[in-house]
Amino acid sequence: MSAAGALALPRLGFGAAQLGNLYRVTTDEEADGAVRAAWDAGIRSFDTAPHYGLGTSERRLGQRLAPYPREEYLLSTKVGRLLRPGPGTGDDTANGFAVPDHHVREWAFSESGVRRSHEQSLERLGLDRVDILFAHDPEEGPEDQAIAEGLPALARMRDEGLVRAVGVGSKDARVLTRAVRTGLIDLVMLSGRYTLLEQEASRELREECEARGVGIIAVSVFNSGLLAQHEVPEDAPYEYGRAPQAMLERARELAALAERHGITLPDLAVQYPLRHPAVRSVALGMRTAAQVRSNLERMAAPVPEAAWAEIERLEREARAAGSSA
Ligand SMILES: NC(=O)c1ccc[n+]([C@@H]2O[C@H](COP(=O)([O-])OP(=O)(O)OC[C@H]3O[C@@H](n4cnc5c(N)ncnc54)[C@H](OP(=O)(O)O)[C@@H]3O)[C@@H](O)[C@H]2O)c1
Repeated sequence: MSAAGALALPRLGFGAAQLGNLYRVTTDEEADGAVRAAWDAGIRSFDTAPHYGLGTSERRLGQRLAPYPREEYLLSTKVGRLLRPGPGTGDDTANGFAVPDHHVREWAFSESGVRRSHEQSLERLGLDRVDILFAHDPEEGPEDQAIAEGLPALARMRDEGLVRAVGVGSKDARVLTRAVRTGLIDLVMLSGRYTLLEQEASRELREECEARGVGIIAVSVFNSGLLAQHEVPEDAPYEYGRAPQAMLERARELAALAERHGITLPDLAVQYPLRHPAVRSVALGMRTAAQVRSNLERMAAPVPEAAWAEIERLEREARAAGSSA
């Protein structure tokens, strides 16, 4: 069995970019409530990264997980961006996080960089181990070094028993496919490219993962928030900006489809990726206890087979139209 297969990933995981003040401040009380509600509801998988609020997410998540038995949950973090002392005179909003710039990021996919990043993460988390390490967004940095040095380094760390599984996390299906083809990784964290709204860009990746037994953790399955509410607002977000009009319209069509089957757009969005055989888990970005509770309800909502059949028919039609265009 592959390392990923042995991990038994739960269907629903907690994405902690929001604990790093993604887009806006998450208060300490909100962070307390979100992690406690997740734990009390039985969520046992958590994802963070040095990138998320320049270490803020790792620090906050580690503090909040500290009371719980370490062997009862899975924790993933990422490597590739080392944090160095920064000016501390401004903020990090240009990178999407509402935190002061006490640190700056420095690309580091060399073996020593990857190992240093792992050690720094453990210090910030206040824990002695993480279960999964992902190379984070290699396409935004020195991609070739990430593939040639970073992935073999991660695989060695797994073989030494420092972590239980390794992978790559990215919104770029091309780089993930490239990483899967090295044969070195167990998992990919695929952001936004396999959702109720978008599938085409990840077709080859999903086939490759299925063929090689590499597991997919689907994230940004709300496409950053666009599919997070049944009534799609005019200013709905999409990948660090506002959703374009065509996407808003498509999301509203999918909401109408959901309604015809007595369910909601987010019910479909959270469950959709798990229908693919290579998808092992969905991690949702959650900021508050209320979001955690409503997402658990969405995950448990009974979706009629007729709704999935209608979605599959629409996808077939869209593919046929695309290939004849
Ligand atoms: N490259 C990578 O490896 C990568 C990339 C992206 C994400 N990730 C991981 O995946 C996680 C999730 O991704 P994501 O944060 O981009 O996107 P997401 O899960 O698609 O969307 C999260 C947003 O949806 C909203 N939301 C969540 N639950 C809601 C609810 N019940 N009701 C209303 N709104 C709700 C929140 O909006 P508000 O902001 O308004 O609270 C939240 O910020 C991240 O936290 C991170 O751990 C990894």
